Amino acid sequence: MKLFDTKPKSDPHFLYGREKELELLVRYLKQNDWIILLGPRRIGKTSLAKCAITRLGYKSITIDARENNNFEESLLKSLKHHEGSFNIRAEVKAPHLPVNLGVDYNRKSSAENLSVMLKKAGRLIVLVDEAQWLHNPRRVNMLLSYIYDTYYDKITFVITGSMIGVMKSIVDPGARSPLYGRAITKMEIERWGSSVSIGFLKSGTKEVGLEMNDQIGLTIEEKLDGLPGWLTLFGYNYAHIKNPNAALTETIKEAKKVVSREMKNIGDLGIGLERITEILQDLAKEPMRFTDLLDSTGFSNAVLSRHIDTLERLGYIEKDHRDEYLISDPILAAYINENP
Ligand SMILES: Nc1ncnc2c1ncn2[C@@H]1O[C@H](COP(=O)(O)OP(=O)(O)OP(=O)(O)O)[C@@H](O)[C@H]1O
Ligand SMILES: [Mg+2]
Repeated sequence: MKLFDTKPKSDPHFLYGREKELELLVRYLKQNDWIILLGPRRIGKTSLAKCAITRLGYKSITIDARENNNFEESLLKSLKHHEGSFNIRAEVKAPHLPVNLGVDYNRKSSAENLSVMLKKAGRLIVLVDEAQWLHNPRRVNMLLSYIYDTYYDKITFVITGSMIGVMKSIVDPGARSPLYGRAITKMEIERWGSSVSIGFLKSGTKEVGLEMNDQIGLTIEEKLDGLPGWLTLFGYNYAHIKNPNAALTETIKEAKKVVSREMKNIGDLGIGLERITEILQDLAKEPMRFTDLLDSTGFSNAVLSRHIDTLERLGYIEKDHRDEYLISDPILAAYINENP
């Protein structure tokens, strides 16, 4: 199974319907541009980044902030892990890393190690995945700006994540941020239109020796709404269950579990899960304008604005052409409706 493999894709042959985005990203990386990939959950950010790296053929390391939220530590670990594959010449003398902020000995030595490793590395792409989970934005931004200024010609970053926490400070660095003034290119990844979604379902089902007629394709596309992650999960289930309706039911059940886990994780971010859930509960019933939400939640203007901003940054809600907010993912809406 290739197209319906539920892991992020890293082989461009199995990256469906993203030719233009792939070409663009490869072009950016070739010219050393640093990139931020933005888009709702499960849209295919990690897959696009990995496929671009494969297509380029450059060495790369991946830092998954969900596994370790200490950027410096995970960068160092990852570089060390791949040290064997760097073309190390002679012993290198590392340039000075900006560590003199009253840091303790361990921290200083880790920064020095990092500095040596960066110096040793050849042309390298660093994928920072799910950057919103990284701790200590100021330190992250300081390190990024140091690497940008010192190694722009050989080390290129691709960063994905939701627009909160560290990610926000990277995308929108304020005038006092160490990253301020450094050009980082943003690429927005959009959901698939209905014909691309159905094309994906058809190609994938053909690959596993099953069929998919237009009617069923349309029903599935409507329920899962052009989100590659859910469509892939459906395909995986269909390949095993072989009955499209049963596979859809199973997919929705599993997807709700995924969404539920994520909502719990958001609680850990300390961004007001209770109030956020209240807003989502109202929007799960129907799309609403800001003023309607003010009435229904009873929040002050400032509080509502702040939470709506967070929900948009998380990719959970969006505003339509009538200025109404709606929940981006039909599975999230269904989950919220069932768990008041
Ligand atoms: N263009 C594509 N072609 C084929 N499969 C895809 C494509 N985009 C995404 N997928 C599949 O959808 C799922 C989600 O993809 P991926 O993890 O790359 O998305 P993401 O935006 O990084 O998600 P998350 O928000 O969870 O990090 C995976 O199963 C992946 O294989
Ligand atoms: Mg991802």
